Amino acid sequence: MAQNNVILITGGCGFIGTSLIDALLQGGCTQPIRVLDSLVTGSPEDLAEVTEFETLTVDQLHTAAKQVVLVQGDIRDITLTEQVAQGVSTIVHLAANTGVGPSVEDPRLDMECNVVGTFNMLEAARKHGVKKFVFASSGAPAGEVEPPIHEELPPHPVSPYGSSKLAGEGYCSSYNKTFGIDTICLRFGNVYGPRSKNKASVVAKFIKQALAGETCAIYGDGSQTRDFIYIFDLIRAIQAAMEAPVGGETFQIATGKERTVGEVAELIAKNLEAHGKSMQITHEAKRLGDVMRNYSDTTKAKTILGWQTQMDINEGIGETIRWFLAR
Ligand SMILES: NC(=O)c1ccc[n+]([C@@H]2O[C@H](COP(=O)([O-])OP(=O)(O)OC[C@H]3O[C@@H](n4cnc5c(N)ncnc54)[C@H](O)[C@@H]3O)[C@@H](O)[C@H]2O)c1
Repeated sequence: MAQNNVILITGGCGFIGTSLIDALLQGGCTQPIRVLDSLVTGSPEDLAEVTEFETLTVDQLHTAAKQVVLVQGDIRDITLTEQVAQGVSTIVHLAANTGVGPSVEDPRLDMECNVVGTFNMLEAARKHGVKKFVFASSGAPAGEVEPPIHEELPPHPVSPYGSSKLAGEGYCSSYNKTFGIDTICLRFGNVYGPRSKNKASVVAKFIKQALAGETCAIYGDGSQTRDFIYIFDLIRAIQAAMEAPVGGETFQIATGKERTVGEVAELIAKNLEAHGKSMQITHEAKRLGDVMRNYSDTTKAKTILGWQTQMDINEGIGETIRWFLAR
C-alpha cells in the first residue's frame, strides 16, 4: 500500500542523523523512516548501531518491510532525489559537505552538495507535496558579526560553507513563501556528544587525538569562541521543529553561552585526567574562514518552539569521553 507518512532523513547515517533516528525510535515513533545517504562519511554500520534496517534501491521502496530503510545515493542526483521523496510527509535535510575547513579546501564541492543538493531536496518536496522540511543550517551564514548571533542580523558569511548554508536558507524561505512548504532552518551551534567519531570538530577531534596519544592542535591562541551544544539537546530541537505548526522560520539552536576553544580544551583535559588519560596541546596558525567570536541568542527558539538546552557542558564532555572510551 502506498505510504504518505514517511520521514525522510538525508545524511541519516551521520552523527546527527543516527542520533535523531535513535531518539525517534526510542520515543515510540511508528512512522516509516527512510534514510538517503551517500555514505561519504557515515556508514551502514553507524546506522546499525541505532536500529535494524534494510537497504533498498529507490525502485524497491514499495517492497519495504522494515520501519527503517536505507537508500544509498547522493543529494546531487536529481532523478534519485525526486524518486526518494515519494510518500514522504517530512524531510529532515542533514546531508551536506560539513564544516568550514572542507569548504575552504573545495568550495565547488561544498556549493554542489549544499546549494544544489538542498535545492534538489526542496524540489523533490514540492513535487511530492511534502508538508514539512527541516534544514540543518549553522551559525556560519551570520559570519563575522558582533555576537550574540540572532535571526534578524544581516548575514555576512566568511567561509564558503557559510555562503552555501545561507543559500540553503534562502531557498527554504522562498519555497515556503511561493510553494507553501513548512520549511524550518535550524542554525546549529557547535554540536558535540556520543556518536561523533567521524567528526573533525573541536570536542570530538581533541578527544580522539588525546586517546590516540596524539597532540591536539588549537588554531590560533585559543581565544576564539564558539557555542557548544550537546547532541541530545540538539535532537530535541529538531524534533520540536518537526512537530511545530510553523513554516518559513529560522532558529538559532545553541546554548547562548560563549566559550573559548582554550577553555573547552581545558575541560576536556580535566575530564580525561579523571580517567587517567592526558592531553597534550599545541598551537597552530589560525584557519582561513574561521570567525573569532560566535555564540547565539536562542530566545526565538525558546518562545516559538518551546525549546531550551538542559545539558551542562562539563557533564556533556564527560558523557562524550565515556562514549569514546566504551568503544
Ligand atoms: N555537527 C555540527 O557541529 C554541525 C554544526 C552546524 C551544522 N551542522 C549541519 O548538520 C548536518 C549534519 O551534520 P553531522 O554533524 O551529522 O555530519 P556528518 O558528516 O556526521 O553526517 C552527514 C551525513 O551526510 C552524508 N552525506 C554527505 N554528503 C552527502 C551527499 N552529497 N549526498 C548524500 N549524503 C551525503 C554523509 O555520508 C553523512 O552520513 C549537516 O548539514 C551539517 O552541515 C552540523
